[in-house]
Amino acid sequence: MILLENFTPSTLFIGKRFIYLDEINSTNDYATKMLLREKTLEGTAIFTDSQTNGRGQQQNSWQSEPKKNIAISFILYPNFLPAEKQFYLNQAISLAVFDSIKKIIDGVKIKWPNDILIKGRKTAGILIENSLSGKKINSSIIGIGINVNQISFPDEIKNATSLKIENQKKNHQKDDDFHLLNMVHILCQETENRYLQLREGKYDLLKRDYLNALYCYQELHQFQTSEGIFNGQILGVGDEGKMIVGVNGKLKSFAFKEITFL
Ligand code: BTN
Repeated sequence: MILLENFTPSTLFIGKRFIYLDEINSTNDYATKMLLREKTLEGTAIFTDSQTNGRGQQQNSWQSEPKKNIAISFILYPNFLPAEKQFYLNQAISLAVFDSIKKIIDGVKIKWPNDILIKGRKTAGILIENSLSGKKINSSIIGIGINVNQISFPDEIKNATSLKIENQKKNHQKDDDFHLLNMVHILCQETENRYLQLREGKYDLLKRDYLNALYCYQELHQFQTSEGIFNGQILGVGDEGKMIVGVNGKLKSFAFKEITFL
């Protein structure tokens, strides 16, 4: 483990303690083990050049070519946030990743609940693992994977892209790689900015910005549930995180596993 002391983001606490690992199975798993040993500084970042067993949502894996991408976890203690407002943490982090990527490229959207797309293709994923004590969040591990300089993906990974692929499309030429640690700086700043908004209780602002960034918001789109395929319009998200879809003049709410975008 190397503590990067020359990594000095201009933040108050996010990334101030920065742990750089050449290789690790999963930065989220490393953070989990760390939390069992010590209550490390809030904002501690764990970054690796090579994640060998990255985890995604719903027990999926997250694959990332060594030295090409960002795989990072932040440790936070959002104990000011009631457990029933957990989804606001998801909105704040999704917005932080969205804000960071938007500084670099156009066409960024958040696909509910927390995939980050560029022109409809997935470029970043977020895995938030909360530990609850009663009605409060004790600690939260914020895992973020961003495809940055990878230019090809295994066949089984559908609809993936990277900043480099999208930048090449835009500029019709081969570009240099993006500088990963510069991007991590931006990510630390944007994460702190959105996390402070959350801490200040700016729920309306976070929800408004999240909806404005949402993929297919208020557009007619095709979805699939256990009841079949239908067209609907995303009209909002509930405080508990369900997606609210207008279907034939009626509002319906869906949890993450209950609905698929087609
Ligand atoms: C997803 O979209 O399925 C979420 C992907 C989250 C990947 C990141 S990479 C850093 C952190 N460590 C992990 O094992 N997963 C997250």
